[in-house]
Amino acid sequence: MQSYTVQNAKGVRGEIRVPGDKSISHRSIMFGSIASGVTRVTGFLRGEDALATLEAFRAMGVQVEDDGETLTIHGKGLHGLTEPTDVLDCGNSGTSMRLLTGLLAGQNFFSVLSGDKYLRARPMKRVLAPLALMGARMLGRAGGDKAPLAIQGSQLKGIEYDSPVSSAQVKSAIMLAGLYAQGETVVREPHLSRDHSERMLRYFGASVESFSGGVRLKGGGQLFGRDIAVPGDISSAAFFMVAALIVPNSELLIRGVGVNPTRTGVIDILQAMGGDLELLNPREESGEPVADLRIRSSRLKAMEISGELVPRAIDEFPAICVAASLAEGTTVVTGASELRVKETDRIAAMAVNLRLAGVEVEETPDGMRITGQARLKGCAADSFGDHRIAMSMLVAGLSAEGETSVSDVECIATSFPGFLELLQRVAAI
Ligand code: S3P
Repeated sequence: MQSYTVQNAKGVRGEIRVPGDKSISHRSIMFGSIASGVTRVTGFLRGEDALATLEAFRAMGVQVEDDGETLTIHGKGLHGLTEPTDVLDCGNSGTSMRLLTGLLAGQNFFSVLSGDKYLRARPMKRVLAPLALMGARMLGRAGGDKAPLAIQGSQLKGIEYDSPVSSAQVKSAIMLAGLYAQGETVVREPHLSRDHSERMLRYFGASVESFSGGVRLKGGGQLFGRDIAVPGDISSAAFFMVAALIVPNSELLIRGVGVNPTRTGVIDILQAMGGDLELLNPREESGEPVADLRIRSSRLKAMEISGELVPRAIDEFPAICVAASLAEGTTVVTGASELRVKETDRIAAMAVNLRLAGVEVEETPDGMRITGQARLKGCAADSFGDHRIAMSMLVAGLSAEGETSVSDVECIATSFPGFLELLQRVAAI
């Protein structure tokens, strides 16, 4: 359990790139594997989560070559996967497990999914319940809510599903099952969650229609392999955005970041808090919007965060909490109970850590109230085994008096290999 220590920084300066988008990396492997023909992926995130998805598809007979730069996926077509001979290990990755559950429900073979102790504690009924309505045959621990999950593939039928949560994992699992189902599948959600599956399926030639409040697709089509350039992950860029905003004398340029509108809640929030954050050179790559981001140190003010902003910034809350800790006034987050079922309970984890850093934090069932301070105190923070908690507290440490240590930082490798080196490179001590 390696811990890492940072000190107060005198500036965050330079020009960087962040690793590829995690959500798009997972989907490039999944859709590439069940497409006909070859898919070449550049910018793939070599983090543990996306690599778990890659290994799962290799275990189902998909040939993937990796020359260190480009992944070449030899698609097997919609019905070409083969039965894995062992448990598919999803590691820490909720995206691997939930999306695979949808995909495996429609295969003509048996499979078992498992993962690390954190993933085995996360709720799976949110995908098993709608998939059961489609005719899926699945079992799991805790009455079908927890992994390991056992899936006997079967013939599925399309459904219309009103999801109680705004979750791209739930939506995508149903859409993947929908590709194998008879008839049409419709998923509606309270607020639009990230739409990478819709975009990539369309890019691969599937007939997927997005409408206000949901998505509709027809089963039984065919996907065609395409080349994919994965943009930088805005969720990874968020740590550097916040670092540059809260550390005085900072100016940072982050090149090639994905700015899909379903993901840019963090930019909207930080700008509304008074952050000097500009989007430069907007362009489109492989069906996804991309831009460079320029961030300069700013005096931040508190705000209220709720409603549709929440799913658009869901993974960035730990970093946003750090920004709120140094903003003038009290930031109030509501409608974010999903944060309690992420890699860890992120509301509780950030409350514990920020209090150690001298911040006034009040937890609520679906959010929190954070009263900003002029200065943070160095502390010994706990990552709770969660990559984004670890990175957030290291960023907080750049703006704290004295030293800040964070325990168990190995978990950062799930989404952001090279984070510590990059932080060292841009933070002037
Ligand atoms: C993801 C969806 C989100 C997000 C996760 C990645 C995806 O989860 O938190 O990191 O790639 O679909 P939910 O769908 O549970 O909100």
